[in-house]
Amino acid sequence: MELVDNYGRVLRDLRISVTPRCNYHCVYCHPLGMEMSDPPGTVTTRDVVHFLRAAARLGMSAVRFTGGEPLVRRELPEMIAAAAATPGVDDVAITTNGTLFRRRHKELLGAGLRRVNFSLDAVDPEVFRRLTRGGEVAQVWDAIELALELELHPVKLNAVVIGGVNDGEVVRLAELSVDRPLHVRFIEYMHLNNAPFDEYRRQFVAGAETRARIEERFGPLEEVPTDPSSPARVWRIAGAQGTVGFINSVSEPFCSNCSRLRLTSDKKIRPCLLTELELDIAWAFDAPDPEAALVEALLAAAGKKPEKGSTLPTLRERVMLGIGG
Ligand code: 5AD
Repeated sequence: MELVDNYGRVLRDLRISVTPRCNYHCVYCHPLGMEMSDPPGTVTTRDVVHFLRAAARLGMSAVRFTGGEPLVRRELPEMIAAAAATPGVDDVAITTNGTLFRRRHKELLGAGLRRVNFSLDAVDPEVFRRLTRGGEVAQVWDAIELALELELHPVKLNAVVIGGVNDGEVVRLAELSVDRPLHVRFIEYMHLNNAPFDEYRRQFVAGAETRARIEERFGPLEEVPTDPSSPARVWRIAGAQGTVGFINSVSEPFCSNCSRLRLTSDKKIRPCLLTELELDIAWAFDAPDPEAALVEALLAAAGKKPEKGSTLPTLRERVMLGIGG
């Protein structure tokens, strides 16, 4: 069984936001303000179990837990265990800011987690603090080293490049891939935080520019073949252990290869990150046979996945934090 949308795309990748809460306030993600607890109606472990079984029945095989910050959610290990135990699911990963990783890694690994992406947008502590509005880069670096010690390969690092904020960090970030098997992914800044349009336009940096800066310092990069359905084009600095990749969602949209669906923490399916459309599927979790109802909901959502999303700055109904990175 495959979940195919109206444009022939096979949907295999599920992103589940487990909480709208985050202990960072990154400038590209959300405005200031922090919720202290999950609002009523936030997905539960039981919901995740049913949802994963329904998705797996439709052939979805990869699950990534996001947030908010997924590690602030107490039940995350149970959710990971449920994903790892779902027949047909063969890839379970998280995207995290790393702050709670040392504290929680044993329960996460015990639950079956084998892959972690860390958000790391700067190496310099001052730049990092400014971008995350108070984050401590040493803590994230400690988590990354722990993931390497635990051999959670491939350890990927996400960096959103923002002009005038952290674009001066790209060479140092790329350099992290040289001596260690770290895979740095430079992600184009998308207008998902409702920043003023002119400010967004001024701060946008194209992936090609980031790559040019890296090549200026390290020489020509060598292309590493990747799965064509992956949004990242991957390269290697000559002799490096890891890689540098570019996710050019804005300058080179990859909609025709998109294989994703998102479940937001408030139980809506968002078929496209860059389109406001969301299907409220709370009803399906409460149905007498939730798994069957969720299969229906997933089929309906696949049928509504837009051909393309809007990469232009537009006023979004909600910011990235609520959707799930
Ligand atoms: N633009 C690009 N990527 C973003 N992320 C969050 N907000 C944005 C944005 N505005 C991604 C980052 C982060 C992950 C959680 O979500 O890659 O690491």
